[in-house]
Amino acid sequence: MSTIMGESPSTEMKDCSAYRPGLEGVVTGESALCLVDEGEAGLLYRGYPIRELAERSTFEEVAYLLLFGQLPNQKELTGFSTDLVENTVLPRLIEVFLGAVPSGAHPMDIVRTGVSVLGMADADAADHSHDANVRKSVRLLAQIPLIVAISYRLINDKPRIQPRGDLSFAENLLYLLTGRMGDDQARAMARVLDVSLILYAEHEFNASTFAARVTASTMTDLYSAITSAIGALKGPLHGGANEAVAEMFLDIGSRERAEAWVRRTLAKKQRVMGFGHRVLRKGDSRSVIIQRYAESLSRICGDHRWYEIATAVDHVMQHEKDLHPNLDFYTAVAYLLMEIPRVLYTPLFVCSRITGWCAHVIEQQDHNRLMRPRALYTGPPRREYVPLDRRT
Ligand SMILES: CC(C)(COP(=O)(O)OP(=O)(O)OC[C@H]1O[C@@H](n2cnc3c(N)ncnc32)[C@H](O)[C@@H]1OP(=O)(O)O)[C@@H](O)C(=O)NCCC(=O)NCCS
Repeated sequence: MSTIMGESPSTEMKDCSAYRPGLEGVVTGESALCLVDEGEAGLLYRGYPIRELAERSTFEEVAYLLLFGQLPNQKELTGFSTDLVENTVLPRLIEVFLGAVPSGAHPMDIVRTGVSVLGMADADAADHSHDANVRKSVRLLAQIPLIVAISYRLINDKPRIQPRGDLSFAENLLYLLTGRMGDDQARAMARVLDVSLILYAEHEFNASTFAARVTASTMTDLYSAITSAIGALKGPLHGGANEAVAEMFLDIGSRERAEAWVRRTLAKKQRVMGFGHRVLRKGDSRSVIIQRYAESLSRICGDHRWYEIATAVDHVMQHEKDLHPNLDFYTAVAYLLMEIPRVLYTPLFVCSRITGWCAHVIEQQDHNRLMRPRALYTGPPRREYVPLDRRT
């Protein structure tokens, strides 16, 4: 390349005006899936406001919307739900893998490797056609919750729970992870879990989705793209934040200790998890929705401790830093009330975002162009090569 060879850099390489660290504000592709807007529009999935979807739809309807492009009618929804149930039989290879998972493994590593194993076991894996990618997406949506739940229960010496055909996606998930179902409280929890899954399903070119699209743009298989995405989601600056928020609430312990805890953390120049967003500087409309559901679940469960700590932290953060809570913040309150094990919070995010990731991979491969950006070279100029025996 011209700069490395010491020749005058090309005009293209000299013009770095488009360079933005962290790709902040850079438009890197087109998508018809989701509009992230801080203003009037708010967040739309394929044109539908997220508030309406959260209040009036189920996660299954939203998953269908993302994968098939439209909200399902009753017949389509029934067919889709049946498909999900029929796909809850895991390939034998996955059973072998789950039996070999070491007890200290992080559930995000298990689900990332599990998706890789599913790819190896899938005869459809190398077919990149639209229809094959949709079929694989439905299988992943059905099977990822099982990988998360079975591995967790195996590692923790708990009996395995079979998913039930008469429960919704969220009810099944709650049942698989906690054993709860059927009573009024479990139904209320499943409803809030359902809302959180709807809110987590899609968010444009966030880090994990972008990772999936970059990988998909090489026309590799869908499983490889999803494995990239899960690896990216695991980090605490992205999906790992929901688990970190719950750890913070536990560390704070009570509403009275919250303000001092936050001030101490900020004084040490540390980040308070669950606040801030690269795009949504003025607040996250999803957070407003999940806060309302977390508050009502606190009332239903008769346990206000986590919600009170959360609102106290929120107050100080907005006052001191003008930073707003993101989706992970009040979601952690809801998941604590559901008594879902904390290590499973980010895998739960996977159970939902798999829909958005898959829809993006399908969109990318349907109209593919390889992603290959440029780097701003900051290394040394051309140097004389010194043979090994003359190097000091
Ligand atoms: C999400 C996040 C990575 C966005 O980062 P970003 O766009 O790169 O924002 P920046 O790192 O440029 O932050 C801008 C300023 O806000 C501060 N800030 C951002 N998020 C903060 C947080 N959660 N706690 C304390 N300060 C924060 C930064 O320290 C920085 O302050 P400075 O200008 O005085 O140095 C960041 O807000 C964060 O780390 N949040 C916590 C993790 C989290 O909740 N992740 C889930 C995201 S959905």
